[in-house]
Amino acid sequence: MYNALSNNLVIVSNRGAYVFQENNGKINTIRTVSGLASAVEPVLFLNSGMWIAWGGRLGENNGVSQGIRLTVPASSSAALPYQVQEVLLTEKEYNLYYHGFANSCLWPLSHQMLDKCFFDQEFWLAYRQVNHKFARVTAQVTKNKDFLWVHDYHLTLLPQLVKRYHCQAKVNFFWHIPFPPLDIYRVLPWGRQLLFGLLGCDFIAFHTQSYVNNFLACVFHYFPGKFYQKQNELFFEKRKIKVQALPIGVNWSRFEKLAADPKVQAQAEKIKSSLGAEFVLLGIDRLDYTKGILERIKALEIFLAQNPEYRGRVTLLQVAVPSRDDLGAYKQLKEEVEGTISKINGFYEGYQALPIRYLYRSLNEQELVAHYLAADVLLVTALRDGLNLIAKEFIASRLDNRGVLILSSFAGAAEELKEALIINPYHLADLAVQIKNALEMPLAEQIQRLRILRAKIKTHDLRWWWQHNLGAFSTSQVSLPGIRKALPGQVISRTANVKL
Ligand code: G6P
Repeated sequence: MYNALSNNLVIVSNRGAYVFQENNGKINTIRTVSGLASAVEPVLFLNSGMWIAWGGRLGENNGVSQGIRLTVPASSSAALPYQVQEVLLTEKEYNLYYHGFANSCLWPLSHQMLDKCFFDQEFWLAYRQVNHKFARVTAQVTKNKDFLWVHDYHLTLLPQLVKRYHCQAKVNFFWHIPFPPLDIYRVLPWGRQLLFGLLGCDFIAFHTQSYVNNFLACVFHYFPGKFYQKQNELFFEKRKIKVQALPIGVNWSRFEKLAADPKVQAQAEKIKSSLGAEFVLLGIDRLDYTKGILERIKALEIFLAQNPEYRGRVTLLQVAVPSRDDLGAYKQLKEEVEGTISKINGFYEGYQALPIRYLYRSLNEQELVAHYLAADVLLVTALRDGLNLIAKEFIASRLDNRGVLILSSFAGAAEELKEALIINPYHLADLAVQIKNALEMPLAEQIQRLRILRAKIKTHDLRWWWQHNLGAFSTSQVSLPGIRKALPGQVISRTANVKL
């Protein structure tokens, strides 16, 4: 068993920033590309601490849940090393908890797609078991007064469970996906248990006020008369739980730096010229049925049918990041997306530029920004999305204020980014019209909209997000180095002992 850390910031999530692979008895670590890793890892580099997560390996480990613990070296001289603690899952747990309850029940339920939900008792039991496992490992490797920052729908039971071991721990939770309205949520047979688990935390944040409202409605439905609410706090006996909308932000300076890098700009030029199109529409998404990729492609088909003058001049560059591809719904989507793309490309064969260029892979940070710079229009057509960071990253990368963001009203980001072209992804005919409007938007209007959007994203950046998430549950009085300089004019909490 490992000793508890002397550091006190502990992140707990299903996936961390690394996966582990065993090769001839040696463990290799592989860096993953994910929104969660880019949002959370920098705060560990500032504070040291620990990240507890499943590392991608499956095994029994002689009945011990704790896997390996490694130190991740600092990424630069200004950063501190941090520890990664693996939680080992068995193959059965992985199938029933991750593929089953998390991704075939909670994920579609939260995105209001009931037809994709499986309400299976075996899934639920495995989910409970894995949450207990995470709680045990967390208790073993942390101290009573540590700050735990738990992430996402995989670990809803953890806050309450961990408090059984460490009653003085401060548990903060961030819910990264939509929180559904009560009428959807109450379909879940284990809805009460899940909420009870979450209510073990001291602070819970969501991307939007609508998700906060949905969550509160569910709490009052399942626990009538137990809680009372005063502004953004819930009270239950002697306990207080803060509930807040805190949309995740982007690492503004990182994106500005990458976008200004001549190598990234040259890569963008190369991408654009390889397409041979005058106008580039861009889509970047995990290949997930919530993202509205098929709707986007079908709208493009309508647009090309109605606007012959654009044929051979416009290409949709669609990057589909492989995701959960063992699940039937994801396999089926992949087939449908790829089939529809080849049908449309086949129909318009012979024109200078193909209607759709499809990449099935993930992009590193430089490639990502190069794609943002190569595009004229970013298409975010999610049928439902917690926030959509791609939309924010695109805006942060457009240093010249040019370009257009088409944004689904069902993405959480639409509550903030009102100056985008807001669309209904189910209305394909209108989406086709908005594609034309985006391509023909006068430069002055593009600049005017992007200026406002960039100002919003700059103010509510990643540092702002950390500050409000972590500042809210810490207690001792220390300064927050650098933050005044980074965000002039912001009100700074002076009560955090976490460096932001
Ligand atoms: C969403 C979730 C994350 C999750 C990511 C990738 O963004 O909010 O918690 O990690 O999807 O999904 P995966 O199943 O590959 O972890």
